[in-house]
Amino acid sequence: MSKLFSPITIRGEEIPNRVFVAPMCQYSSETEDGRCTGWHTVHYGTRAVGGAGLVMLEASSVSPNGRITPWDLGLWDEGHVAAMVPVVDAIVSNGATPAIQLAHAGRKASHTKPWEGGKMLAASDGGWETIAPSPISFQEDWDVPREMSMDDIGQVIDDFASSAKLAVNAGMKVIELHMAHGYLACEFLSPLSNHREDDYGGSLENRARFPLEVTKAVRNAIPDSMPLFVRVSATEYMDNGWDVDECVEFSRWLKDEGVDLIDCSSGGNSATQTLTPFPGYQVPFSARIRSEAEVTTGAVGLITEAAQAEKILEGGEADVILLARELLRNPYWPIHAQTELDGEAAWPSPYKRVAELRNYPAPPR
Ligand SMILES: Cc1cc2nc3c(=O)[nH]c(=O)nc-3n(C[C@H](O)[C@H](O)[C@H](O)COP(=O)(O)O)c2cc1C
Repeated sequence: MSKLFSPITIRGEEIPNRVFVAPMCQYSSETEDGRCTGWHTVHYGTRAVGGAGLVMLEASSVSPNGRITPWDLGLWDEGHVAAMVPVVDAIVSNGATPAIQLAHAGRKASHTKPWEGGKMLAASDGGWETIAPSPISFQEDWDVPREMSMDDIGQVIDDFASSAKLAVNAGMKVIELHMAHGYLACEFLSPLSNHREDDYGGSLENRARFPLEVTKAVRNAIPDSMPLFVRVSATEYMDNGWDVDECVEFSRWLKDEGVDLIDCSSGGNSATQTLTPFPGYQVPFSARIRSEAEVTTGAVGLITEAAQAEKILEGGEADVILLARELLRNPYWPIHAQTELDGEAAWPSPYKRVAELRNYPAPPR
């Protein structure tokens, strides 16, 4: 059996294979109240039918002002839980492990949907004041965020913890904290976006304080048996910015706080970052963090081929593979990948005749 399709046990959770659906914002909460809709049930359920071992819900905000857009998923009240249960059921009943990424967008909040321009949303159009470690905008034409007070910091930490409890109530089996891509926790980590002079800025220890406090609060809020993942940007691709050396150290501290898997992404904190993606471009970050921080890792980013994914696992560069865009193109990628690697795949019963058809002679032209 291939490594890609062998199960993996993380804490108390056995996940049936190592193809994970990466978190992908859908901006499809129709009523702007952060609730899941039929779109989410079909979208996530389809990826479970397609054979992924773990299906992770998109960045879901722990509070209204943490949303990237008003159409993001939210998880701050029981109404969100009730609307999320059918999505969780669609994942579980199709054999995959349900997971959710919890997030706060910080200075990147209050925008329009990407397909409507991804522009800052004015207060007159339903936008809101953004918050960040320091009053530094992401780019010139974006609003300057308000510097977070100690009360704000405490509030966001509490929001993450209570959102994590709601995720447990909704039936989630894995939680991932979004600390990548220039969102709030990532903004604290970077010396370019964090100019604070208190205990939350300056040294690496201080910049990591808020993300680690969030981690500790969430770990304490969820069952001991529940896996906790963190997505990091391993580097921000900027001179004098957050880099892989700092991220390796941070990953060690996350592990000490009870984080089980580091999901290794990169970039997103600077409008002028220099990054040219290529196949597997973030795999070396996963390999370094895995070997130097001695922690379970996930590799993500332009991984599109079964053999490529298998080689990453075989080479000890990651423990699991996350796919994003390829699973939008083809939700059945895992079934095809398993057929390629292992000679056969577990098609869902109602689809089994698809496999039979492969053996039929070509129809006459
Ligand atoms: C439509 C879309 C939405 C995304 N939303 C999120 C998100 O909610 N959280 C996150 O951490 N990354 C998000 N990403 C990044 C992906 O998870 C992934 O890291 C990136 O697309 C690279 O992987 P890929 O080459 O397999 O697409 C998103 C990507 C896409 C294409």
